[in-house]
Amino acid sequence: MNLETKKDVATVEFQGKTYTTDLLVGSEGEVGLDMRDFRNQTGAICLDPGFGNTGSCTSAITFLDGEKGLIRHRGYKLQDLADNCNYLEVAYLLMLGELPTPYQYRQFLGKIHENNFLGPSLQELLNHYPTQSHPMAVLASVVLSLTGFYSDLGVDKFYELDLDVVRLLTKTPLIAAHNYRRKRGMKYIPPDNNLGYAENFLYSMFGRSVSPERRKIMAKALEKLLIIHADHEQNCSTSTVRVISSSNANVYAAVGGGIGALWGPLHGGANEAVINMLEYINMQGGDLEAVIKRAKDKNDEFRLMGFGHRVYKTYDPRAHIAKKVVDELLEDLGVEEPLVDIAMKLEKIAIEDDYFVSRNLYPNVDFYTGTAYKAMGIPKEMFTVLFAMGRMAGWLAHLLEFRADESRRISRPRQIYTGVTARDFVPMTER
Ligand code: ACO
Repeated sequence: MNLETKKDVATVEFQGKTYTTDLLVGSEGEVGLDMRDFRNQTGAICLDPGFGNTGSCTSAITFLDGEKGLIRHRGYKLQDLADNCNYLEVAYLLMLGELPTPYQYRQFLGKIHENNFLGPSLQELLNHYPTQSHPMAVLASVVLSLTGFYSDLGVDKFYELDLDVVRLLTKTPLIAAHNYRRKRGMKYIPPDNNLGYAENFLYSMFGRSVSPERRKIMAKALEKLLIIHADHEQNCSTSTVRVISSSNANVYAAVGGGIGALWGPLHGGANEAVINMLEYINMQGGDLEAVIKRAKDKNDEFRLMGFGHRVYKTYDPRAHIAKKVVDELLEDLGVEEPLVDIAMKLEKIAIEDDYFVSRNLYPNVDFYTGTAYKAMGIPKEMFTVLFAMGRMAGWLAHLLEFRADESRRISRPRQIYTGVTARDFVPMTER
């Protein structure tokens, strides 16, 4: 681990006591004060709602520089990975630390192929969900149910983790694709191991209703989109996976929780919310100024979806890649998507508006991805499922890293109590 400790560098004076602490320096020069013993020594906690200033772990998977707008996975630029790798290679890199050699890749692919099926009882389970269920609700609960299919213990099971990882990578797209089909009264399509990861998903979803030529174009774009979603260090859903894992809950419980966290519109659910917003603008005749005005109004809860990010103070580098993917996809498919024009005009107005500029609000990863999925004919309620498919690699990489971390402890934050102080009990008859 590339963590340098500078002993006794900082002191905090508090109520006549002095707390002296170490400075921790990461491999990219990021610094943090070691506050682990702060409460023991001073009696005070560090209050940080939303954890904007709290480091919950050290990690060697992804480096983000929110000021410069860059992402590197295991040292490699995201753009290089998106240009040169497929999703499974990136998943391997995130989880195991190195890009696979041809031999390692064949071994990994072999395991993927062995587990690339959805058994009859899992298909049957899916058939019982009401057809109107949101695909994210179905995905989260079916992933959690995998514990019942693949675990005797239902609790910590380190020994099977490799297999669990492969199962999650293979079953997630199949659950998503079969759920899409059975809702429309269509039969399960078993995957074809001659196809790549993204193409197999599209095949399992659309079957022969999409021509192989068209599917290949879509798969090329989707592999890139899965890669740009693959990891983003301690985001809300990944932190959730780590928090759940910290109780030694099993991998399906942890990932099921991560899917739930991703669903929210302030996180991965924003991709669906962006399309709803763009469709609304389109329906209203393209009145962009009205939307910008609402987003700036403090009395209105509306936010410009797909804009802003806790870490980025500049353009989200993933949004650049996503925009390029959308442009290429539309050209290759020979289709036009009016929502892309609306999105571009909206972006132009926002990034020149003082409200957004002064708050460092720029397009994030979700701003353009929905338009790509829409062009592929994927229904918008499934957009966040595609995010989950990509983020699966990151969740699993963090889970593996967390389990190997000797300093890990159960996640158990503290609070400052603000409720009623001690009072006498009043029996019900006297209340
Ligand atoms: N539209 C309008 N105003 C915004 C937006 C937005 N999209 N995002 C932030 N702001 C404003 C806030 O109102 C606040 O203004 P104030 O300082 O005058 O009170 C300021 O910018 C800071 O916002 P916070 O909510 O404190 O920023 P935080 O880091 O907590 O939130 C978040 C980040 C949740 C992403 C936020 O920018 C947002 O809600 N964006 C829209 C939803 C979205 O696109 N989410 C996807 C994020 S990417 C991902 O998770 C994969």
